[in-house]
Amino acid sequence: MKYLILSDIHANREALAAVLAHVSRKRWDRAVVLGDLVGYGANPNQTVDLVRSLKPLVAIRGNHDKVCSGIEDGEMFNRVALQAAQWTRRRLTPSNLRWLRDLPEGPVVVDGAFAIAHGTPIDEDAYIFGEIEALNVFRQTAFPLCFFGHSHFPVVFGLSPDAIQTMLSRGPAFHVKLEPGVRYLVNPGSIGQPRDGNPLASFAMYDSDKKTVGIYRVPYRVERAQKKILDAGLPRPLADRLALGR
Ligand SMILES: [Fe+2]
Repeated sequence: MKYLILSDIHANREALAAVLAHVSRKRWDRAVVLGDLVGYGANPNQTVDLVRSLKPLVAIRGNHDKVCSGIEDGEMFNRVALQAAQWTRRRLTPSNLRWLRDLPEGPVVVDGAFAIAHGTPIDEDAYIFGEIEALNVFRQTAFPLCFFGHSHFPVVFGLSPDAIQTMLSRGPAFHVKLEPGVRYLVNPGSIGQPRDGNPLASFAMYDSDKKTVGIYRVPYRVERAQKKILDAGLPRPLADRLALGR
């Protein structure tokens, strides 16, 4: 099976459409979305509609989906994130609001093959930035392979019996062959708001037969997404950071 792994789209329709156009000639069997479909960007409904059109689909919620759909009030959010979430909540159609609210909390096991989580499989709102957090998650779970998002930073952590290893993806395409006896935590990066200093949209493909993970970067019309954010009256830093990838 080939899985298309998408995370942290953040209502950036331009970035999602570019990724879907990029993979339109590749074969994939199932789309997997790791949460944060909305929040920050100016096209929440178009983004949710596009995700809902991907079939078959497995999706879980992210922290922004919870606040934008009214499950949580966002008291932990900074001012810019909260302003964007409240703007998003007012604009979501009743159908998309309900659909977001019904997204399950991770971890979810997909086809018995791997797990998915938004932040971590222990706490959906917690972050894995480096090896110490990754090691903690490895210790407290048993998943051989888990995809996660939330940090907007594409990375692969591998735990072998004697060491933990970090593989940071660089360049437009990065491939890892999963080795037997090694457990993996994989972040496909963010489609709609990358934060690794590279503004290109980031996503992953997982081939469960060949046991390979690829992380890919795709250019999109950043200026168009920025203009929509400013035209919508959303805070300017949300537009500025898209060009920086931070
Ligand atoms: Fe996010």
